[in-house]
Amino acid sequence: MIDCFGSFERNCYCSELGKEDIGKRVSLTGWVDSTRDHGGVVFIDLRDRTGKVQIVVSPQISEELTEKAKKIRDEFVLAVSGEVRKRPEGTVNCKIPTGEIEVYIDELKILNRSEPLPFPTEDDVNVGEDTRLRFRFLDLRRGKMQKNIIFRHKLYQVVRKTFDKEGFIEVETPFLTKSTPEGARDFLVPSRMHIGKFYALPQSPQLFKQILMVSGFDKYFQIVKCFRDEDLRADRQPEFTQIDFEMSFIKEKDVMSFAERLIKRIYTELLGIDVETPLSVMTYDEAMERFGTDRPDTRFGLELKNLTDIVKESGFKVFRMVAENGGVVKALNFKGGASLSRKEIDELTKFVGIYGAKGLAWIKVQPDGLQSPIVKFFTEGEMNEILERLDSEPGDILFFVADRKDVVNNALSNLRLKLGKIADLIDENKVNLLWITDFPMFEWNEEEERWEALHHPFTSPKEEDIEKLETAPGEVRARAYDMVLNGVEIGGGSIRIHRPDIQEKVFEIIGLSEKEASDRFGFLIEALKYGAPPHGGMAFGLDRICTILCNEDSIREVIAFPKTQRGQCLFTGAPDTVRDEQLDELGITIEAEEEKE
Ligand code: AMO
Ligand code: AMP
Repeated sequence: MIDCFGSFERNCYCSELGKEDIGKRVSLTGWVDSTRDHGGVVFIDLRDRTGKVQIVVSPQISEELTEKAKKIRDEFVLAVSGEVRKRPEGTVNCKIPTGEIEVYIDELKILNRSEPLPFPTEDDVNVGEDTRLRFRFLDLRRGKMQKNIIFRHKLYQVVRKTFDKEGFIEVETPFLTKSTPEGARDFLVPSRMHIGKFYALPQSPQLFKQILMVSGFDKYFQIVKCFRDEDLRADRQPEFTQIDFEMSFIKEKDVMSFAERLIKRIYTELLGIDVETPLSVMTYDEAMERFGTDRPDTRFGLELKNLTDIVKESGFKVFRMVAENGGVVKALNFKGGASLSRKEIDELTKFVGIYGAKGLAWIKVQPDGLQSPIVKFFTEGEMNEILERLDSEPGDILFFVADRKDVVNNALSNLRLKLGKIADLIDENKVNLLWITDFPMFEWNEEEERWEALHHPFTSPKEEDIEKLETAPGEVRARAYDMVLNGVEIGGGSIRIHRPDIQEKVFEIIGLSEKEASDRFGFLIEALKYGAPPHGGMAFGLDRICTILCNEDSIREVIAFPKTQRGQCLFTGAPDTVRDEQLDELGITIEAEEEKE
């Protein structure tokens, strides 16, 4: 029989109890974390979202209650009342905050029962992520998950408080809208009232926030969901949350210093850590040259060195040809790595292969000379220059990749991170925040043979580069900035184009015809013609910030109901088929009946 809740009233949370409550009468509710029957006395660890407390049911207080307690199983839902007592000498549990007390109960209501669980609700569960996501309602009962979700709640509060204090206005923008390109595929929503037409879920509120600036709102913010149909990784979700903001009559420094104040406040209020500001700034070119990526983890060295100038006339054909064809040869010095075995080197070669590298040349610097399959191709002079540039000493191993610049940077930046982890070079306690600036406006898309906007096409070119829009788009730099935390891009933004002529020019460069530009972004171009103020802004990836601050490896650990790497919600079963009538109403026929698994 399940007792009803009746007149029971909870008057505190489990872990609020402490020594100062000894002698008090309390009423608690929660889940049974565990039970133990010690020779007639039943001990129950009762758990709610604040923590656990030990409940004691003793036959000395009530035989009937004790019998009832013996039938209680894990995850039953209870309401109890009783007296807080000091635990006897020798039974104090230092591991939990309520470890010095226990509650002797004289009232017990079983509010609900639970079937045996598919996995225990302990912090360190050893089950696959799919099972955890399938039973997310149980997974979220685990202390670690509750801590993460509550941390995320606190993060929202600090963010809202900070924006409000600085005069920003929170405005909601639509989800059923037109495509806003941020470089991913759109999720589309078919329209029933306009058969054959689709809404696109926003990849970001970019255009709406710009329109709000034109409308005079001056400082906007929103904690907002964004939707991107892209390949998922540990730090990507198809729907994720941005801390989005935009400001008028500002320059880069205004947006950046606000963003710094926000991140500083988040760190102080949530972790008690003081972040030193202003943050350091690195240009895109420098980041790519030294680290091979625009989101460098500068908590450790192991920097890449460009050797193209030294090897371009060497006897090593692979390197020489790459240099002659406009590619680059870069290398890094893995200090103390000369002890790596052939097998380990082969594994690293395979690893860089993932990123397109055709090989991984190496030189071991041994006390008695160099050991390497490629040394024989170089003159003594070239070799000395290489060794010197890489600052090599006996015991080191040097790794080289020669290829197109993007392949080399991609391969070596990933190798750098891997070696950094292998050799434990990364100080996990460091908070490594920096800005990357001076991004190129455009990137050449080899496949489609056209220029693409590196950020989004609403980013303003640098004033001094505007004249190059026509002649050398590849050399135009953008007024864009990204914030990087421990090697993760946590936010990015830019000063926007507020002149319609420049906006149209940029559309033209990325290959949008006048008609396409007007069909897709006519409303923006029009708005820019009616007194658009200079404006700019930024968006932080809230999930990513939360992941790092909670010390988690995966974004899914800080999202209550995340999607798998394959974009599925295992708990609800989305995406799912729909009724034929629904499809009919939308004018949709499904051709391939087989669902791709
Ligand atoms: P951007 O595309 O750089 O900029 O996005 C801003 C930040 O959002 C986070 N982010 C993601 N997080 C989780 N999953 C994803 N799939 C994902 N994609 C991006 C990143 C990123 O830095 N409208 C512009 C901002 C602006 O210019 O103001 C924009 O969306 O942390
Ligand atoms: P090979 O002469 O092709 O046997 O290559 C000699 C060494 O150079 C091997 O260690 C290869 O892994 C390496 N190598 C081959 N191509 C490249 C490349 N594009 N970049 C770096 N190393 C390479």
